[in-house]
Amino acid sequence: MNLNENEKPIGVFDSGIGGLTVVKRIASTLPNENIIYFGDTARVPYGSKSNLTVIEYSLQDARFLINKGVKAIVVACNTASSIALDELRKHFALPIIGMIEPGAQAAKAATKSGKIGVIGTRATIGNKAYSEAIRKLDAKLDVVERACPLFVPLAEEGWIDHKATYEIAEEYLKELRSLNIDTLVLGCTHYPILSKVIKKVIGENVTLIDSGVASAEIVENELNKINLLTENKLQGKQEFYVSDIPVKFKEVADLFLGRTINHVHKVDLEVLTEI
Ligand code: DGL
Repeated sequence: MNLNENEKPIGVFDSGIGGLTVVKRIASTLPNENIIYFGDTARVPYGSKSNLTVIEYSLQDARFLINKGVKAIVVACNTASSIALDELRKHFALPIIGMIEPGAQAAKAATKSGKIGVIGTRATIGNKAYSEAIRKLDAKLDVVERACPLFVPLAEEGWIDHKATYEIAEEYLKELRSLNIDTLVLGCTHYPILSKVIKKVIGENVTLIDSGVASAEIVENELNKINLLTENKLQGKQEFYVSDIPVKFKEVADLFLGRTINHVHKVDLEVLTEI
């Protein structure tokens, strides 16, 4: 590719389709940017895998995007962000933006009572990624974390307003509700599509933080700082790559992205592991 640096696409990856909620936010903040998305749908979930495996997969995902000629990478997966961000930055010189820092900053800005809840995959919560990032910003903030592993398959099933989702949310969130938090970080890129249920169960007065929204602003600031924003005035183009095309892919992708995806490229795992 012989593009001037600014006109190269932004690369975004996730363990699966959750990161499409982040693509939606980046596209609305930076509508003229081209985006290349990679979802590792053959190896999802990352949230129940070991740190070593998540690092290995994340390096492969990033390398795939770099080979496509991206100018920056957004790790649109909280699990990969909490485990592999340092390693990714050690290996690759381009700007790499994760989910945790932007989400932590947005939570600090939103809370009035200083009591913040965080929900995410077992890996993100087990690594205490958010509590450490939030307390680094302000040691006085009180952070309570809770893993909600069943939210990922419920979101992928498209059960965004289903009785079972309410019941599971009730079980997961009752302790956080009793602690009177005023802010809840959706620390997994699958969760924004379950916002309606989560809000109803945790309480309408609790502010939900979508780390995708927060990270889109950081992407804009970072690219602006190093003069890497596009000069294109037309609507940006988006390309989608996945390592497997699940049966319900199109239907669910619409739900996450908010629009129809017409074409998805399939990447063989051998290609991913060889590069
Ligand atoms: N989208 C991933 C995240 O933000 C969760 C899915 C997974 O476990 O791979 O953490």
